[in-house]
Amino acid sequence: MANPWEEIPLSDYENHMQFDSVMQLQCLNRMMRNQFNAYPISSAVILGIAGGNGLEHMDRNKYHKVVGVDINGEYLAAVRERYGELADILECVQLDLLEEADRLPKAELLVADLLIEYIGYACFQKAVQQVAPNYVSCIIQINASESWVSDSPYLHAFDQLAGIHHQMEENELTQTLGSIGYRRIARAENQLPSGTKLLQIDFAR
Ligand SMILES: C[S@@+](CC[C@H](N)C(=O)[O-])C[C@H]1O[C@@H](n2cnc3c(N)ncnc32)[C@H](O)[C@@H]1O
Repeated sequence: MANPWEEIPLSDYENHMQFDSVMQLQCLNRMMRNQFNAYPISSAVILGIAGGNGLEHMDRNKYHKVVGVDINGEYLAAVRERYGELADILECVQLDLLEEADRLPKAELLVADLLIEYIGYACFQKAVQQVAPNYVSCIIQINASESWVSDSPYLHAFDQLAGIHHQMEENELTQTLGSIGYRRIARAENQLPSGTKLLQIDFAR
């Protein structure tokens, strides 16, 4: 069965994420600037890159190689078109992390924002071991209510995701990475208008 993310148009995802009552795209964009600039590294793998939100913060003097990964080839085509100025350092790779994490390249930083929710802890752990980064920076969503998709006119584009969504929990994520030698080095929370929180946790080995 196809992964539901292959069926969601990028415009529905982005329009939902930047809707006034959601505001996640804008908040993520600010958080990603920090993720890309925080550590002394020159290569990164970004898992679940979608349409490339935040890539404008990539410092070309710092990064020599950036790999954006997603299951949806149309999202990656949009990334290539939008960020043509990064063409010499940015590579987009289409793969299903649930089946093909062993195809991931090595890098010094691994970024995974609102992605672990859709692949689960065990698959994420495998991805981290494959990339073998010095730093891992992830953002997970902490919900204010039972509902894990904020309300917007695009809400029903995400109906099929319920079958693959995992509710994230800070301690379990910390333990998952702790068991493969990564210790937590930073933590930052951002509250959204809906009451949902975006929680960034960074790890180093
Ligand atoms: C909620 S979006 C997050 C996108 C982006 N990181 C952001 O913060 O806006 C999840 C992304 O992960 C991708 N994704 C979900 N499951 C995946 C899988 N099994 N393998 C690769 N990418 C996947 C989706 O296509 C989507 O682009």
